[in-house]
Amino acid sequence: MNAKRELYEELARQARGLLAGERDAIANAANLSALIWHTLPDLNWAGFYFLKGRELVLGPFQGKPACVRIAMGTGVCGTAAAGPRTVLVPDVHRFPGHIACDGASNSELVVPLVADGRVVGVLDLDSPLSGRFDADDAAGIEALARLWLAASDPL
Ligand code: SME
Repeated sequence: MNAKRELYEELARQARGLLAGERDAIANAANLSALIWHTLPDLNWAGFYFLKGRELVLGPFQGKPACVRIAMGTGVCGTAAAGPRTVLVPDVHRFPGHIACDGASNSELVVPLVADGRVVGVLDLDSPLSGRFDADDAAGIEALARLWLAASDPL
């Protein structure tokens, strides 16, 4: 197994321990954001948006203050939620409609949160490096999203 996959295996182990015994979705999102932030290198933002009506609304995160509301279907987050599908953006400056919350961001990975076939939000990671995220990151973050969904009561 390559080093990055091992890192995500370890991160998933830590996440299972961190979320065990707590069902509050916001508390679990806050702790998972902090765990991701302190474990993965080269991030400048890591956190959650939750779907409320037709908008994604900012949830727990680590990094600089961010835009609060994102319409479904817009930006990288809204595109991931509308799919729903994981969106990997090697260069955010080439993604039409990218929403720049932090000018330092150059690449982004957004994973939709889907509970019982219903989109409830997204998990978003930003990096100051171009091409920071690859298919192993997408698989690793999708696994963490599934852990959060399984560990938490519906919002
Ligand atoms: N860049 C995102 C907005 C959220 S921030 O990155 C935290 C987007 O285009 O949807």
